[in-house]
Formats: sequence, C-alpha cells, structure tokens
Amino acid sequence: MENLDKIVEDALSRIQKSEQLEALNDIKTSFLGKKGQLTAVLKGMKDVAPEDRPKVGQMVNDARQKIEQLLDEKRTEFERAKREARMRSEVIDVTLPGKKLNLGHRHPNTIALEEIERIFVGMGYEVVDGPEIEYDYYNFEALNIPDGHPAKDEQDTFYINDKILLRTQTSSVQVHMMEQGRLPIRMISPGRVFRSDDVDATHSPSFHQVEGMVVDKHITFADLKGTLELFARKMFGENTKVKFRPHHFPFTEPSAEMDVSCFKCGGKGCRFCKGEGWIEILGCGMVHPHVFEMSGIDPEEYTGFAFGVGLERIALLKYEIDDMRLLYENDIRFLSQF
Ligand code: DAH
Repeated sequence: MENLDKIVEDALSRIQKSEQLEALNDIKTSFLGKKGQLTAVLKGMKDVAPEDRPKVGQMVNDARQKIEQLLDEKRTEFERAKREARMRSEVIDVTLPGKKLNLGHRHPNTIALEEIERIFVGMGYEVVDGPEIEYDYYNFEALNIPDGHPAKDEQDTFYINDKILLRTQTSSVQVHMMEQGRLPIRMISPGRVFRSDDVDATHSPSFHQVEGMVVDKHITFADLKGTLELFARKMFGENTKVKFRPHHFPFTEPSAEMDVSCFKCGGKGCRFCKGEGWIEILGCGMVHPHVFEMSGIDPEEYTGFAFGVGLERIALLKYEIDDMRLLYENDIRFLSQF
C-alpha cells in the first residue's frame, strides 16, 4: 500500500512539473506502460496471499485511474493553452484597409449577344453552334453562291485550300441545320466570321454575326416581318419602327434589308444616323427554293425565312461606340465602362 501511494505521489509530482504535451506521454509510459511501475506491482500479485488479492487488485486499479485522470486534466490544460496562444497570434486587425478586388466586365459584344439570345430563346428558338473552318460547299455552293461570284474572290475570303476556307458568314450553319433533317427549324447561330478586310473604324478581318432561320409549313414573309419587328422593339426600345428595303442575297428570294428608326433622334435625322433617320441592321429573306432542294427539303411542302445580323454593328449602335477597333483592343479603360 505504501509502495502504491508513493507511486501515485511520484506520478502526480512529475505530471505537475511537466511543461509540454509530449512529456505526458513519457510519464504515461513510465507508470502505466508494459514496463511501467504500476504494471510491475500487478506482476507482483503472485506473491500476495490469495485472500488479499482482490483488495490489492482494487487498490492498483484505483491508483491507475487516478494517474490517468491527472494525465487527462493536464493534457486538456496544455491543449487549451496552445489554442489560446494560437488565437492570440491570429488576431485580425479589422481596422486595416482591405485589398481592392477588381471585378471583370462583360464585353459589349457579349452583352449584346446575350440580349439577342434572350429575345429569341423567349420566342422558342434554339441556339446552335457551327464550325469556323468550313467547306466551300457550306459557305457558298449550298447557299446558291456559284463559282465566279464576287464574294468568292480571294480578295474577300481566306482560303485554306481549294475546298476549305474560314467562313465568311454564319449562313453556313443554315445548311448544317437543314441537312440534319430535323424539321421544323427555329434556330439562331452566333459566331465568328472572317473576311479579308483591312482594319479600320468599320471593318475587321474577323467579326461576329448572328444567323437566324425558321423552316416549317406555311411560313410567310409576314412571319419574317413580325418576328424581326418584335426583335427590333425588344432590342432598341418599344417605340422603334422598322422598314424593309428590297435587296439581293443569293440564298433568299425575296430578300430585304431591315432598317430601324434612329433611336437617338427618333427618326428626325441626326449625326448618329447621318441625317437619315434610319439605321440598317440586318439582311433577311425567304429561303430560296433551290437552297431547300440542295439540302433535301421539299420547297413545295416547306417554306422558311432567314436573317443575319452583324453583332459588332448592334453593339456599336446600342452603346454609341464610333470605332469598331475599340471592341478588339481590350483596353481596360474602355471595357470598364460596360
Ligand atoms: N450572310 C449575309 C451576310 O453576311 C447576311 C444574311 C442576309 C443572312 C440574308 C441571312 C439572310 O440569313 O437571309 O451579309
């Protein structure tokens, strides 16, 4: 018994004197471990008279429990002290000035495109993608643009070889859609197009168009006009008026260009619309029967309309930007205005 008391006392004083968490492990081993002092007492049980064994066993257990409890308490104390020290060292000075986060801005082209997509998706159109590298067939031939047509000139088109080129118009996507044979079609297709032009305020060798196409039974020019008028009003304001002028595109018949009343002066004529009162925004027309035939659609059964919008043109108009080059230079001072 005396021996046990001495062991417990000894353990207690060592625990109290310990200065760090790791020391507690050593103490634990030296008292409770396989070769520990308490374990040694247990091993000596065989020398104890059998009738005294339960009593001695109980005492050893009590001693063990006591040491374990002390170890636990000390461990908790160490951990608390450690946590407190860490919290003290991590104090945040909320009075320090914050770091400025520079938020990005959407490009005017992107804003205009999202607006166009929202309007047409709202009318039940799907948005489809087409390849920028294209066969001559899709960009020209299947759109009724025969060899010898001025648009096919190397002055205007970037050719990769005889048959392959960078598309000059998103109209090529019309052909891909018709070929798939899923009718009716109600789609818009935004994307990049390429023309062999020098850069100036209104030209760029690469710009964007949004193509549109509807094919179904009983589609008429009235559908074309109603759709595009609605688009213009949603895009440029409720009071916008539209005007269709006869035009020529090889893949539509009849063809037209659509003007909108100048949203700056309301049609009276100003610097913005060059005194005209009207601004041209897109080309359109009824799909040419021959174009249908080439893509395997029966023009006796189906009719349709198509249109093509220059995205940069819309963005320039909507945000009153007077030089297209601004859209491509990625000048933060310009972009951050949108
Ligand atoms: N692809 C024509 C262009 O680049 C624009 C166009 C005109 C598209 C009439 C059409 C259309 O779908 O019907 O000038």
